[in-house]
Amino acid sequence: MNDIDYRQRLVDNKNLLDDEIKTYIKGESLIEEAMLYALEAGKRIRASLFLETRRLSRNQIDKNDLLFALAIEMIQAYSLVHDDLPAMDDDDYRRGKESLHKHFGEDLGILTGDALLNEATKLMFEIASRDSSFIKASQYLLSKTGKDGMIEGQILDLRRRRNYNKDFLIEVYDKKTADFFKGAIVAGALVNGFDQDTINSLERYAYYLGLGFQIQDDLLEKDYGDEINILSLMDLQASKKLLEDINYQCKKEIENFENNQFFLFLIEFLSKRQY
Ligand code: IPE
Ligand code: IPE
Ligand code: MG
Ligand code: MG
Repeated sequence: MNDIDYRQRLVDNKNLLDDEIKTYIKGESLIEEAMLYALEAGKRIRASLFLETRRLSRNQIDKNDLLFALAIEMIQAYSLVHDDLPAMDDDDYRRGKESLHKHFGEDLGILTGDALLNEATKLMFEIASRDSSFIKASQYLLSKTGKDGMIEGQILDLRRRRNYNKDFLIEVYDKKTADFFKGAIVAGALVNGFDQDTINSLERYAYYLGLGFQIQDDLLEKDYGDEINILSLMDLQASKKLLEDINYQCKKEIENFENNQFFLFLIEFLSKRQY
């Protein structure tokens, strides 16, 4: 497969997820309508990380895999709905439309985030009750998006926006962004039953991929105000050099893997993304 095929693979994964969302949530009540609004139009990168890791050990992904990927995107959507609230980043736009609280009100902003997280957890229990290999995967994912992972990252980000240095910035990006990437990839590796060495390499790959992803996010941000951003520590050229160095480390983690082509493609693809 060449790069164009892998781009198509991301589109296919996104379409699979979009179909799954419509089947799972009907939009028959206000909260379901708001959940659909929150889930609409994501790039589904984290879902793809899980699905592609599963594809390392089997050609065909199944319904449990798709539902687990849906749970991942519910967590992603909840984290963004809450991130945009006035008490956090206070952003009016997300995914090319009004942020959820702008559209539905702040009360729904809080409750839609809660509902998505609750539904994601419920889904994981349903999947794990059918296939016990998802138990450890669910525990791992929820630990990476929880109080010692993504949520800790959000706290560091919100509470220490002044006088930070590069080490601190990397620590925040590890927690708030890379930990979720680790959660999605390692969850797939655990369901696959991979050995510990392989899991460790994939986790380090996810670490560098997540750092690079957040740095590119910074470079795309037009007006970061008082938010943490790499450009407040170094100029564009130095930031791009740092991203290149991170990508080099990222590649090293998986260069000896079989079937690593998609994962190699993703490193370049994500650091060149424009949205
Ligand atoms: C946004 O992530 C949050 C960050 C960690 C920068 P994405 O850019 O993957 O958001 P969606 O899900 O595609 O909207
Ligand atoms: C996104 O972080 C939220 C999480 C990682 C949970 P940012 O605040 O940096 O991302 P955008 O720019 O709003 O998407
Ligand atoms: Mg934020
Ligand atoms: Mg934000």
